Amino acid sequence: MTKKIVVTGGAGFIGSALVRALLARGDAQVVALDNLSSGKRENLEGVEGPLELVVADICNYDGIAPVIAGADTVFHLAAIPSVPRSVADPIPSHQVNTDGMFQVFRACHAGGVRRVVYAASSSAYGDTEVLPKVETMRANPLSPYAAQKLMGEYYASVFYNCYGLETVSLRFFNVFGPRQDPSSPYSGVLSIFNKCIMEGVSPTIYGDGEQSRDFTFVTDVAGLCIKASLAGPEVCGKVYNAGNGNRYTLNMVWETLQKIAGVSLPANYGPARTGDVKHSQADTTAAVRELGHAPQVSLEEGLRATLDWFRTL
Ligand code: UD1
Repeated sequence: MTKKIVVTGGAGFIGSALVRALLARGDAQVVALDNLSSGKRENLEGVEGPLELVVADICNYDGIAPVIAGADTVFHLAAIPSVPRSVADPIPSHQVNTDGMFQVFRACHAGGVRRVVYAASSSAYGDTEVLPKVETMRANPLSPYAAQKLMGEYYASVFYNCYGLETVSLRFFNVFGPRQDPSSPYSGVLSIFNKCIMEGVSPTIYGDGEQSRDFTFVTDVAGLCIKASLAGPEVCGKVYNAGNGNRYTLNMVWETLQKIAGVSLPANYGPARTGDVKHSQADTTAAVRELGHAPQVSLEEGLRATLDWFRTL
């Protein structure tokens, strides 16, 4: 019998890329579980293979438990993302990212799921004195979002230790690529930068633009999720960085994007955001060694592919 794989947040930006990567392997039927709050049906348009979209909310245990039951693997990506959104409006993000996360782990345990891959966040590190950031560093969340995502790592490891549910946490660094929605002020910065290019307007950079991020292309993250789902039992209960291993300042990235697009739109600058981390860069040693992580897409290649996608809209 073909195995069932569930992707929570499967109609979202990263989830839909993961759904595509899973279906391309051709060995599973995939269920995208999404409440369509930020996910969209059109993110799954053109996807080929055995895919079902179930519209359900992870906060509703009775709604998700039958969908998850009997799955071989669950990728838990559903969340209300964004650091500044969690600072401005912490209750919904707490409910989804913490209470909803707990319901997903509960349903996975009750439903006999073989393995859960949990989308954790690099924001858990906060500001560290040393770069790159390695998994053995003490977590130091600076925002509600970071604290919520860190709680998910603790629950992942607790469900493994107490109940034997196989879990792996991947700390996503700043993921970018096609289908990242630029429409909210809380959207990922590279989707906003691409929208600015398309509209011929200058972006606003918060702070001096010298903050840096480990921008990671979405297909590389999806690939690592699949590797984490297939790795041996020694990875269970553990946390791995899911980054590219490089870091670029916002000023550098905006420069590069203008060059690629052949335009000149000097950025505006505004005050730095509360809860913002200054620098972020993944140490990929453990992910490479234990999960076989092998990021393929450079920042420039990823920016070109993303801009190409924005041009199709
Ligand atoms: C954070 C996390 C990431 C998490 C993501 C979820 C860190 C290091 N990263 O990303 O792991 O998955 O939240 O949403 O904590 N900015 C501008 N102009 C804009 C928009 C943003 O200058 O119009 C700046 C921000 O102030 C920030 C940087 O761009 O310095 C990146 O912001 P964003 O894309 O929102 O992601 P993070 O908050 O870094």
